[in-house]
This record gives sequence, structure tokens and C-alpha cells, in this order.
Amino acid sequence: MKEHTVTITDNKTGQQIELPVKHATHGPSAVDIGRLFRETGYFTFDPGFLSTASCQSSLTYLDGEKGELLYRGYPIEQLAEKSSFIEVAYLMLYGELPDQQQLIAFNDVIIRHSMLNVTMNDFFRGFYHNAHPMAIMVGAVGSLSAFYHDSTDISNARHREIAAHRMIAKMPTIAAACYKHSIGEPQVYPDNSLSYAGNLLRMMFSVPCEQFEINPIAEKALDLIFILHIDHEQNASTSTVRLAGSSGANPFVCIASGIAALWGPAHGGANEAVLTMLNEIGDVKNIPKFLERAKDKNDPFRLMGFGHRVYKNYDPRAKIIRQMCHSVLGKLCHTNDPTLELAQQLEEIALNDEYFIERKLYPNVDFYSGLIYKAIGIPTNMFTVMFAIARTVGWVAQWMEMIADDNQRIGRPRQLYIGPARRDYIEIYKRK
Ligand code: CMC
Repeated sequence: MKEHTVTITDNKTGQQIELPVKHATHGPSAVDIGRLFRETGYFTFDPGFLSTASCQSSLTYLDGEKGELLYRGYPIEQLAEKSSFIEVAYLMLYGELPDQQQLIAFNDVIIRHSMLNVTMNDFFRGFYHNAHPMAIMVGAVGSLSAFYHDSTDISNARHREIAAHRMIAKMPTIAAACYKHSIGEPQVYPDNSLSYAGNLLRMMFSVPCEQFEINPIAEKALDLIFILHIDHEQNASTSTVRLAGSSGANPFVCIASGIAALWGPAHGGANEAVLTMLNEIGDVKNIPKFLERAKDKNDPFRLMGFGHRVYKNYDPRAKIIRQMCHSVLGKLCHTNDPTLELAQQLEEIALNDEYFIERKLYPNVDFYSGLIYKAIGIPTNMFTVMFAIARTVGWVAQWMEMIADDNQRIGRPRQLYIGPARRDYIEIYKRK
């Protein structure tokens, strides 16, 4: 069969180049432009990677038009309904769902890596008490490379696996330590008899002097939210992890760089920004005023939790969390949370507004997740930390996939230079 190619013609010189098309197993194919610069002297220009596939991957597939998300081929709706965070983490790392024994063994490994080197406690204490937990988390996760040198040989597959297990296991312990530091309470050690989410809840909300009971509804809700956040293809933080990793940097600092990228309000920081926005709106009667601001190009205000680079349909994760809000909030809160009512009204008004319809702006995963976190008792400044805990699975899986790829090279984008051409230095006394 003839190779599928795309021909590009330079209408100035008439030069033509035939470029091969690489076919995806599912979804859009990609034109392989690797030879373009060498053979034509042109770069491609695509700020924000609107049309650029930065790598090939077999982890996550998403169809923005359909609003479909698959982890290793499995629909997110099925995993959310039937699976657990630990099982999906196994699926992402190893490619297939585990059998019973594999799941028990994997859970055991993760549990056994949950403690932190005790000298890391001094590290947390060094942060100012009102530091944002994400700031502490970036530092703490990066510092793991100073404590666990024995798993930083990236050419060794077993080292890579141990580093992945360590990060998945230690992330809740680090997150809880960040929180405890900010409220001046003692750190609580992990309890290996608990589930991943249950352990996190206990480490965050228990104190050494009192008995603590985990709320099973909060535990289940957190596990489900974590599944929904595990991976999302080549988003900003995942691409950051891959780019950092492409230079051969150790996995701990690569994940720390992903946490830094996640913190921005256009990405994972949006869940915190949504709650701040809903508080600012305050009342249903103020919605039209805020919507006008969101539509005004001269106003930097955007409707947080709305819009997505890839989804031009309802984000499937938001759909699941929206349904969850009703059942979980009803069971967890003594009174109805007026913020949920406000969020629903805002969603309805925005979805019927011409501006949002035209631009295909729908609620994304961050629109409702904060409401669940709030109901569980998680403070607003910990929302993005929750996202980081879950996304660590995706980051390490993507990093492992990249390092194991024989064709992996350092990531090194080019640029369209728009600065001055070469010019000569002028002595200071001669400058005008
Ligand atoms: N409110 C108002 N207008 C918006 C919004 C919004 N939330 N999002 C996009 N638009 C407008 C934008 O102004 C532009 O209008 P025009 O065509 O008239 O210039 C159009 O929609 C296309 O937007 P864009 O900025 O070109 O889209 P993008 O793909 O570069 O940005 C986004 C995607 C998620 C950064 C953006 O929609 C946004 O800032 N949303 C709010 C923040 C948010 O909720 N982020 C979480 C994303 S999902 C979870 C995650 O990835 O972490």
C-alpha cells in the first residue's frame, strides 16, 4: 500500500516536500514534520500547541468534540463507577487492569512507601506558617531527590518503578504535612490499614490526642475524584514533566516541575479559583454582572471552571462530578450548601448565553470539584494539592513511558525570532 503523505508547496519558490502521515490507533493522525527544517529551512509555528502532537502515547485518549475520555482504552465513566484509585493507578503504570493478586501486591507496595524520611519534617518546619501548601509541595516533592538517591538512576527500569511507587505513595503524606504545617498541628503518620483516600483524610483531619473516624462517604467521594484527575493527555503540567524529564533529570524533580505548572489558575489552580469566584459572586442576582465581565475583552475576569483547550463539549469528568455533588453534598452537609445552587444557576445561565454557546465553553472538571472538596472539609488552598496527588499517577506513567521509548530525545522547541537583527555595541557615552 502506498504510504500516506501530505505535500506542502512553497508558493514563493515552488519547492514541494512530501511528509509522511503517522496514524493513531484512535483519533486524528499527525503529519510527521521532523524533516521539514532540514529540507526546507522552515520551522512550523504553533504557540500553545494548538495543532501539535508533542509525543506519541498509549496512556490516555480524549475526544474533545464528543466529550470522551479513555484511560488505556477504558471509558472514564466505567472506571469511575466500578474501579478504585489504586486499581486505575496500576492500569496506568502497567497497561492492563490487575488481577486480584496483582492488585493486592500493588496496594501493599504503595502502602509500604507511604512514610517520609523523618528528616523531611525539618524541611516542612522551615516554611513560613502562612505559605501556600502548593509552594511547600513543589519544594517538598523536589527535595525527595535529596532523600531517595537510590532510585534516581533513570536508565534502570527498576529504579524508575521504585521512584514511581514512592511518589504515588508519599504524595498524600506530603500533602497532609503541608496542611498540618499551615494550621500548626503535629504531623500524623500514615496508617497502612487504611485506603489511599482514607489515609489522606486521617492524616489531614485527625490529631494524635483524639480518636478519629473516617467518613466513608467522604472517603468514597475522594477516591472517585482522584480517579477522574489521574491523567489528561499532554496538558501543560504533563508536558512540563515530559520536557523536564527529556533532559535526563531525576523523576522527583520532574514531578515537582509538573506541580509548579499545575498551580496556575488556567490549569489546576482553577478549582481554587472557582470557589473564590463563587464567593465573590455571592448571590444569584449578581450572576449577570459577572457574566458580562467574563465576556468583556477589556476585563481580565474569566468564568473559572469554564472552557477547555480540547473539550468543545461537556467535560465528561465534570458530568460525573456534577451528579456526585447532589448525592455527596446531600449526605455530607447538614444544611444545603447555597454555593451548589449558585454554581448550578451560573452554569445554566452561561450555557444558554450566546457568547458561551458560540465558543463552545462548557463547565470543566474544576467547576464542581471544589464543592465536593469543600463538603469534605478540605480548605480552599488545598484544592490544587488534591489535584496534584491524583495527577502524580499520570505524570509518573507519562514519564516512564517517555524514558522507556527508544526514540526519546531531549525536547528542544525552536522559535520565530522577532528581535533586532545583528547590530554593534555602542559605547555608553555615544548612546542617545
Ligand atoms: N470565560 C470567558 N471567556 C472564555 C473562557 C472563560 N472561562 N474560556 C475561554 N473564553 C473565550 C476566550 O476569551 C476566547 O474568546 P475569543 O475567541 O472571543 O477571543 C475563546 O473563548 C477561546 O478561548 P481561548 O483562551 O483561546 O482558549 P484556550 O484553549 O487557550 O484556553 C482555558 C483554555 C481552559 C485556559 C480557558 O478556557 C480558561 O481560561 N478557562 C478558565 C480557567 C479554567 O477553568 N481552567 C481549568 C481547565 S480544565 C482543568 C485543567 O486543565 O487543569
